Amino acid sequence: QEDLFKKLIAHCKEYGFVFPSSEIYDGLAAVYDYGQYGVELKNNIKKYWWDSMVLLHENVVGLDSAIFMHPTTWKASGHVDAFNDPLIDNKDSKKRYRADVLIEDQLAKYEAKIDKEIEKAKKKFGDSFDEAKFRETNPRVLANLEKWKELHERFSKSMNEMDLVDLKQIIIDYKIVCPISGTSNWTDVRQFNLMFATEMGSTADGASKVYLRPETAQGIFVNYLNVQKTGRMKIPFGIAQIGKAFRNEIVARQFIFRMREFEQMEMQYFVRPGSEMEWFEKWKATRMSWHKALGFDDSNYRFHEHEKLAHYANAAVDVEYKFPFGFKEVEGIHSRTNFDLSQHQEFSGKKIQYFDPEINESYVPYVIETSIGVDRMFLQVVSAAYCEEEIEGANGKKDTRVVMKLPPALAPIKLTVMPLVKKDGLPEKARAIIDTLKFEFNCQYDEKDSIGKRYRRQDAIGTPFCITVDHQTVEDNTVTVRYRDTMKQERVAIGELRNIIHDQVSY
Ligand code: GAP
Repeated sequence: QEDLFKKLIAHCKEYGFVFPSSEIYDGLAAVYDYGQYGVELKNNIKKYWWDSMVLLHENVVGLDSAIFMHPTTWKASGHVDAFNDPLIDNKDSKKRYRADVLIEDQLAKYEAKIDKEIEKAKKKFGDSFDEAKFRETNPRVLANLEKWKELHERFSKSMNEMDLVDLKQIIIDYKIVCPISGTSNWTDVRQFNLMFATEMGSTADGASKVYLRPETAQGIFVNYLNVQKTGRMKIPFGIAQIGKAFRNEIVARQFIFRMREFEQMEMQYFVRPGSEMEWFEKWKATRMSWHKALGFDDSNYRFHEHEKLAHYANAAVDVEYKFPFGFKEVEGIHSRTNFDLSQHQEFSGKKIQYFDPEINESYVPYVIETSIGVDRMFLQVVSAAYCEEEIEGANGKKDTRVVMKLPPALAPIKLTVMPLVKKDGLPEKARAIIDTLKFEFNCQYDEKDSIGKRYRRQDAIGTPFCITVDHQTVEDNTVTVRYRDTMKQERVAIGELRNIIHDQVSY
C-alpha cells in the first residue's frame, strides 16, 4: 500500500495534477501547486460540493469572506489561546514531530496488523470465512485489538484534556520510536500554536498583528447577522463557503493530506436550540451520501465518533476514508452549540440573536458544521480512482495500463478527439467536432503518436471518452467512441455525441 501511495504521488506529478510548490528552489514543505489537470479536478470537486449544498438546499446560501479578519476574531474563537498541537523533539535526530501524529501512527500499525491477519485468513478459508467470528476468536487479532482499544482510549482522553505529561508517557509506554533515527530519546511535549501571523499596515502607521485564517468558519460566524438580515433568512438556514485556510503544521507529510496552505469547504447550519441533534443526524446522513454517490466502494468509508468532545461541542463525528496509509479523516461534522456566536457577541458587544416568530422567543442560534478539506478530498478521489490493470498489449503480450477511474463528473477532461491520421481532412473534422462540444465539456485535441499511445495518455488522466475520427467519418459523419473503463468501442453518429457524454458526466 505504501508503494501504491508513492506511485500515486509520482503519477500526480508526471501527469500535471500536483507539483511541489516552487519546485525549482527544491520546494516548500507541505505546500503544493495544482497543475493543468489538477486545477480542473479540484474545480470539479468544489462544484460538486457547492451544487449539492447551495443549489439543492433552498435555505443554504453562499459566502466568500476575506482571509484576513480582525485580530479579535481569533481571541473570541479561542484560536489564540487554544489552537495548539502537542509538539515533541527527538534529541538524536533533531527532528520535530507532533506527539498525536506519532501515536496515531502507532494506532494505524495495530490496525494494519489486524487487517493483515484477516486478509491472510480470507485467502486461506475462501468463501467459508466468517470475519466477525474470526475477529472474536483469533488470539493474534484479539491481542492487537486489545492494544488498539487501550491506546486509543488513553490517547483520546489525553488529547481532549491536552494532558502533555500523559502524551509523553504514552510514547514511552508504547515504545514509540522516532521514524527517522529509530531512537526514543524525546524532549517533553509542549504546546505549539498553529496560526500564521503577519503584519498589516506600515510600521510608521503602527502595524498590527493579523493572522492568516486557520479555518473559513469564522468568516461565516462574523457575517451571520449580515446574511440573515439581508437574505431575510429564517432558521433553520445555512451559509456555505469555500476558501483557503492556513496552519503552521508541525509535520509535513503524506503529500496533500496535511498541508500548510489548503482549502476548506465549510457550511454552518443555524438551528433552534434543542433541535441540534436532529440536524446533526440529518447532516451526517446527507454528507455520507454525498461521498458515496461518487461510486467508489462503500466499504472504504466509515464514521468515527468522537467519544470525548471539545468544551463547546455536544456531538462530533468524522467521515473517514481508507487511504493507502489507513482510515483517516476527510470531513468533520460538528454540533458546535452556540459557542462561536456567543463568543463573538461577547467580544464585539453586538447583539447576535434571532427572533423566532414561531415560538415568540429570541436566542443565539445553535450551529451544526460540516467541514471538508478540498485537497484531502482530492487525495481521496485520486487514491480511489488510481488503478493499474493488466491488459493485452498490441503484440499479444501482457501489458499494464494505468487508469484513473474518476467519476466522469469530476474528470478534468471529458473527451478527447483524435484524428486517425494528420491528413485527408481528418484534423479539420476533429476540430469541428470539438467546436460543437467545447462550450459544454472540457475537450482536448490529440493527433500525436499512435492511437494506442493516445488512449493510454487519456487513461492516465481519467478522460472518460476518446473519440476517433477516421476516413469513414468524412463519408458518413460517424465516429468511434472508446470508453475508458471497459475499453469497449462503438460507432456512433456525431450528432449523438452530446447526449452520450452529457448522460454520463452529469450528476
Ligand atoms: N471549522 C472546523 C475545522 O476547521 P478541522 O477538523 O480542523 O475542522 C476540517 O478541519 C477539515 O479540513 C478536515 O477534515 C480536513 O479535511 C481539512 N484539513 C484540516 N487541516 C488540514 C491540513 N493541514 N491540510 C489539508 N486539509 C486539512
